[in-house]
Amino acid sequence: MANEVVLQIKNLTKKFGKVVAVNNLSIEGINKGEFVTFLGPSGCGKTTLLRMIGGFYYPTSGDIIMNNQRINDIPPEQRKTSMVFQNYALFPHMTVYDNIAYGLKLRNVPKDEIKQKVYNILKVVQLEGMEHRRPAELSGGQQQRVALARCIVIEPEIILLDEPLSNLDANLRVLMREEIRRIQKTLNLTTIFVTHDQEEAMSMSDRIVVMKDGEIQQIGSPVEIYEKPSNLFVASFIGYINLIDGKIVSKSKDTYTIKTSIGEIKNINSELGDISQEDEVTAVIRPEAIDLLDKRNNEIKENRFNGIVKDYTYVGALVRYRVEVDGFDDTFIVDISNPGGRGIFKVVEKVDVLLPNKFHCIKK
Ligand SMILES: Nc1ncnc2c1ncn2[C@@H]1O[C@H](COP(=O)(O)OP(=O)(O)O)[C@@H](O)[C@H]1O
Ligand SMILES: [Mg+2]
Repeated sequence: MANEVVLQIKNLTKKFGKVVAVNNLSIEGINKGEFVTFLGPSGCGKTTLLRMIGGFYYPTSGDIIMNNQRINDIPPEQRKTSMVFQNYALFPHMTVYDNIAYGLKLRNVPKDEIKQKVYNILKVVQLEGMEHRRPAELSGGQQQRVALARCIVIEPEIILLDEPLSNLDANLRVLMREEIRRIQKTLNLTTIFVTHDQEEAMSMSDRIVVMKDGEIQQIGSPVEIYEKPSNLFVASFIGYINLIDGKIVSKSKDTYTIKTSIGEIKNINSELGDISQEDEVTAVIRPEAIDLLDKRNNEIKENRFNGIVKDYTYVGALVRYRVEVDGFDDTFIVDISNPGGRGIFKVVEKVDVLLPNKFHCIKK
C-alpha cells in the first residue's frame, strides 16, 4: 500500500529577533500512522518547529502543508493536530473525566457521545476507575496518561508530543515509551515526538529527524541513523562512537584501504557511495563492532592493532573497555558482550584490537 502523506514542511523558518530558531527546514512527507521523532540537543529548534506545526507560532517564512492544504493561517483549535505539553498542563481542579472531556465539550460534542468517548479512551490508556480523581491524586505516570488521553480523545490526525517523558523517573520513562508506542499503534495515530534523548528516539520511532542549530542533519530510520550517520554530528550524537581519520590509498571493487595514524585499515563495503581513491574520510566504528584478541590468538591478521587496556567498566551484560593503540591520540571504546567465559582483560594488559572489516565512512 502506498504511503499516505499527512504532513509536509516546506522551507520553514522561524526567527525570534536575531535568533534563527528554525532555519529553512523541509520535510518531504510524514505518513499516516508514522511515528516521527525530532531529536537534537537543547536549543536546536525542536519545540519551535513542533509549535509551528501545532499553530502556536506563526512561521517567519515557509509553509506547513497538511493533507495537501497550506495550514499556516489556520488557528490551533481548527487544525487536526493536538499537542501534549511538557508539563502536561492538566487542570488541577478538574477530575480526570473532566480533563479528558474538556476538548470535546469545547467542540460541542453531545453529552452521551462525550461519555462514550471518554470511557473508551480511559480503557486505551488503562486508567479505568480513576475518572473521579483529580490530577494531584495521581502518580506522574498516570498524569502523563491523562494528558495523552486528553490529547487523543478529540481524534486528531496528528499528535504532537514535546518531551512528554522528561518529568518521569527513569524506570517509568522506559515503561511509558512502550505505553505510548502501544497506544499509537492501536489507534494508528500519526505522531510527532520531540526529545533530546537518543535512546528514547531510537527505541520508539519509525523515523528520526536529527536536528542541530535549526537545521536537519539527517532523516532516517533508527537503523540508518545508527549505522550510516551522514555526518560527524549525527555519528557522535547517537551513542558511543570511535572516529578514525584517514585517506583512501587504494580501492578495488568493494575493498577500500584506508591509511590512518595507526596503520592501514581494510574496509570491504559496497555501500560507501561516492567515496573514491585519495578521499579523506573518517571511519565510524561502533564499540560493539570491535573485538579484543588475546596476544596468543594468531588466526586473524588484518585490521589488527597492538593495544593496551587503559580501563574498563563492567556493566554485567557487557564490559566497556578503553584501549590505547599506538599512533591513536584518542582511546578506542570497545564493548565486549557477555564476557563470562572469556574472562576480563586487566588494566595495562596487552591486547590486540580487531577492527571490523566492514564499517561506515564519512567523506570529509
Ligand atoms: N519565544 C521565544 N523567544 C525568543 N527566543 C526563543 C523563543 N523560543 C525559543 N527561542 C530560541 O530559539 C532557539 C530554539 O529553541 P527551542 O525551539 O525551544 O529549542 P529546543 O526545543 O530544541 O530545545 C533557542 O535558541 C531558544 O533560545
Ligand atoms: Mg524544547
